[in-house]
Amino acid sequence: MSTLTGRRVVLGVCGGIAAYKAVEVCRRMVDAGAHVVPVMTSGASHFIGETTLSALASEPVRRTLWDESDPIPHTRLGQGADLVVVAPATARLLSAYAHGYSHDLLTNVLIATRAPVLVCPAMHTEMWEHPSVRDNMALLVSRGTHVVGPASGRLAGGDVGAGRLADPEEIVAAAEAVLAGVGDGSPSPRRDLDGVRVLVTAGGTREPIDPVRFIGNRSSGKQGHAIAEEAAARGASVTLVTTTDLAVPAGIERVRVDTAAEMHRAVAAVAPSAGVVVMAAAVADFTPVSVAPGKLKKRDGVPAVELTPTVDILAALGAAKPAGQVLIGFAAETADVAANAADKLRAKNADLLVANDVGAPSVGFEHDTNEVLILERSGEQHHVPLAHKRDVARAVLDQAIVALHRAGRPDEENQ
Ligand code: CTP
Repeated sequence: MSTLTGRRVVLGVCGGIAAYKAVEVCRRMVDAGAHVVPVMTSGASHFIGETTLSALASEPVRRTLWDESDPIPHTRLGQGADLVVVAPATARLLSAYAHGYSHDLLTNVLIATRAPVLVCPAMHTEMWEHPSVRDNMALLVSRGTHVVGPASGRLAGGDVGAGRLADPEEIVAAAEAVLAGVGDGSPSPRRDLDGVRVLVTAGGTREPIDPVRFIGNRSSGKQGHAIAEEAAARGASVTLVTTTDLAVPAGIERVRVDTAAEMHRAVAAVAPSAGVVVMAAAVADFTPVSVAPGKLKKRDGVPAVELTPTVDILAALGAAKPAGQVLIGFAAETADVAANAADKLRAKNADLLVANDVGAPSVGFEHDTNEVLILERSGEQHHVPLAHKRDVARAVLDQAIVALHRAGRPDEENQ
């Protein structure tokens, strides 16, 4: 049974081209058994018809604060909701919500509710990457607002980049995960990493063959970024060593790298002073011995690319681990997940190993959702069912905190 069954969801729809996808989000949530109350902004009605949404939702669309039959619609809707989902959420809505500027029914509902809120941003890449939008997102995330997307892909007008509304099925999966309350279920993050330095790696490394080609892998970096964001929201000072150009909230120190060797250097500089190190990156195991100075030409035949092993960064960190540090590895597996992960935990001297079956649907690489098994040194295992990567991040950090306490850090540093 879906966690949406029997739950009351306010679905806010803002004025963006992606508003048409809100119709599908609404239909899927109703199919899952939710009671969906749609709230459209005035901008949304430029993009979709009220009748369409009213016909599919559990109640007719609400649009105004000034409804004669219901003098206080915002408090009634806000107080009665189990969850508020805004899809699409425009730059204007994010700004208004972040700053408490309640100028219409949807922004009033957002301020009036104590229910968890899931925002699904959608806008052009330039807008999504603008510092004002990033700061507003960081503020919302730090207050416990849940976020899904945006995805990268084709945008209105033929542009391609980050800013596309997450797919309806991902939005519904994220709504279910929020209601399932992975971790402690609390919508507002605790500050239980205050004073702790957290180092996270994210993304797949790229090992150059020539100026245009590289050996890479399918890692999107989303899980590592989600861990960095969750750690920052919980008070940690975070360094994120990443191979991606995903947006990073203000307050996180971002180090952009490409190759395994660059990642190793960046990690080695920070790791000795970190309380928690999370190796979420998919590091190449092999790299070309040399990089061709010019593009390899087809006419010269199939190139013989000689490879050499890279440094295993996690194993190197495990061998030189300072007392009290919690070292967390990841394992991407397609078979014998738990057994292979347990081997890696021991071989690399990690404290926790987060294993995912990258062959399973909606799990691991490129997706916004993940399902993992967290292994402890003691052999204890924690299964985190399919959830948004942010909720998986929460579960991983919950275990990191338990391990930190076990490693004997003074309580006052971690509370
Ligand atoms: N890792 C690393 N440096 C490498 C390779 C992997 O730090 N050169 C880390 C990853 O960041 C991850 C863990 O080791 O935390 C496991 O990575 P994975 O690719 O699953 O395993 P490998 O050790 O590379 O083994 P295999 O590819 O044989 O499964």
